[in-house]
Amino acid sequence: MTASQPVKITVTGAAGNIAYSLLWRITAGDVYGKDTPVELALLEIPDAVGAAEGVAMELNDSAFPLLRGITVTDDPEVAFKDTKAAFLVGSRPRTKGMERADLLEANGAIFTVQGKALNAVAARDVRVLVVGNPANTNAYIAANSAPDLDPSQFSALMRLDHNRTLSQVSLKTGVPTAELTKVAVWGNHSASQFPDLTYSNAEVDETWYKEEMIPKVAKRGAEIIAVRGRSSAASAASAAVDHMHDWIHGTEDWRTAAIVSDGSYGVDEGLVAGFPTVSRDGKWEIVQGLELSDFQKERIEASVQELREEREAVAHLLKG
Ligand code: NAD
Ligand code: LMR
Repeated sequence: MTASQPVKITVTGAAGNIAYSLLWRITAGDVYGKDTPVELALLEIPDAVGAAEGVAMELNDSAFPLLRGITVTDDPEVAFKDTKAAFLVGSRPRTKGMERADLLEANGAIFTVQGKALNAVAARDVRVLVVGNPANTNAYIAANSAPDLDPSQFSALMRLDHNRTLSQVSLKTGVPTAELTKVAVWGNHSASQFPDLTYSNAEVDETWYKEEMIPKVAKRGAEIIAVRGRSSAASAASAAVDHMHDWIHGTEDWRTAAIVSDGSYGVDEGLVAGFPTVSRDGKWEIVQGLELSDFQKERIEASVQELREEREAVAHLLKG
């Protein structure tokens, strides 16, 4: 691709909270870079297309040098046609008292439709990041609805959990987040997740790590909902930008990405789970060769078990 050719990027749920932050970061060049023009496609449900048109008006009013055009539509095949990067944000957020799994029925069906549309019309090297919850299982549904795309093209957002871990350690130790290495979050983007400091250079007390930090990070989404009154939006958008940026441009240190398992570390092949990953040659790779303690194995297994149960609960969506 030459610098002057625009890249098509699709954002679903374009009239929602996350998109209101995400679209500005994408259009500023924070994903592909400051020399790559962008063409946006905004997908919404019919009732929210009007509001998405308003978002598009504001994006135009921001006079971004890289913006080359915006399509607003309620048709997934129009939104995903030739798209290189798809942020699947559109879905219902949970409210106070709900667990993310409660969203399975409400949101799961969206991802069969969108997976099929991506399969039919997206660029053959499209990268797909599912943000809408329950993100891992929605990505599993989308990947399984797109037989002509490679499973490695699908991922779910657990970079927010990764960033929350970095932030908690940084607040505790005073070490800037950029100086912390080899942090990862295993499993599901849910309260069962396992933020793992085993290999990191963080110097923290074991009791604080196991009894305070892990539950704090795992329940941070609920804490934000309780305090803010709505689910996290700008931090989720920022994490989504980090994820797609690193997927495209590569990483030196570990990042957390939820990707389709190849069976590593006892995670069933095909499940979409958070792993310690690096991005090389445009692909997420699971860090191999780690020795796991009993504590780590138990924590990973508990979260993977939840993913298996979610897979069972959505099996009917993938029949036929
Ligand atoms: P929101 O309600 O503000 O916006 C969601 C938008 O999606 C709405 O405008 C809605 O009309 C649209 N939508 C619904 N179905 C759609 C469909 N089939 N196609 C296109 N658009 C559709 O919600 P939000 O705060 O932007 O959050 C969106 C999702 O992201 C929620 O499921 C939330 O739980 C999830 N989330 C995930 C993470 C993460 O780390 N993985 C973090 C925060 C939020
Ligand atoms: C989060 O982690 O903030 C999001 O997944 C929203 C939620 O429901 O917790």
